[in-house]
Amino acid sequence: MAFTIIPMTAHTGAEVRGLDLRQPVDDDTRAALNHAFAQFHVLVVRDQHYEPGDFVRAVQLWGELQPHDKKDHHIPGFPEMYYVSNEEFLGGRRLIPGETFHTDHSNHPAPPKATILYPVALPTTGGDTQYVNMHLAYDDLPEAMRRQIDGLKAVHVYLSKYSPRALKPLNEESLKALPPAGIHPLVRVHPENRRKALFLNPVRIEGIVGMPDEEALALVAELMAHATKPQYEYRHQWRYGDMVLWDNRSVMHKANPDYDMNERRYLWRLMLKGEPPIPVAAAA
Ligand code: SIN
Repeated sequence: MAFTIIPMTAHTGAEVRGLDLRQPVDDDTRAALNHAFAQFHVLVVRDQHYEPGDFVRAVQLWGELQPHDKKDHHIPGFPEMYYVSNEEFLGGRRLIPGETFHTDHSNHPAPPKATILYPVALPTTGGDTQYVNMHLAYDDLPEAMRRQIDGLKAVHVYLSKYSPRALKPLNEESLKALPPAGIHPLVRVHPENRRKALFLNPVRIEGIVGMPDEEALALVAELMAHATKPQYEYRHQWRYGDMVLWDNRSVMHKANPDYDMNERRYLWRLMLKGEPPIPVAAAA
């Protein structure tokens, strides 16, 4: 099958063209797609035409499905398939899932390696998804800061009491299935590309082990201000037919609520299982 993988910025994102992932792919293609995922962190596979079952099958080229924490919030008949939508409200306010920079399900001891979106309805303009490269952000930190944070561990819970935004409360079934809090290195090593990356998520981080909360929050805020600078960003402008998958071990992401809320924005969403984050000391 002739296909191309073309980088979209100097550091993050590549566009894949010439594949219809409803069809089986050979081993070489599968290996090339997995290599590109670890290298470019965000893959935009263009011109896909999926029913829910096609989407579920296609993403498994990169790994095994990881169910969402919200058990009540899936596409009927597809328990692993969640959706993001601008049509829900919480406490009288419209809820935009993923409205601030984060990484997915970092409250899990083994957070998902990948998340994948496929659009069903898009606003006429806006509603981009923004990604920031956490390898590059780490590499650019002053040496003293890298030394300070390399060995630190953060506590990630379902919803931090310090979160900048609310999440929809979990129902009883979802609460029962929730794993224990994730205690994760603040700097993780990617198991495939071997690069170090900041592992931050203000929605879930409730503290840093051995540090007073005030100091921990100030450190996370300082690292977030650094990591979300425009030079680390790839900003995805959605087109119908795009399947976008990103590596939660390499990037943070956020949904952009800059569009007319009378227009519908609705995307199917899947995740793939990951591994416990590798600390710097274990990779040395
Ligand atoms: C998410 O955070 O998973 C959603 C991103 C988006 O809707 O663009």
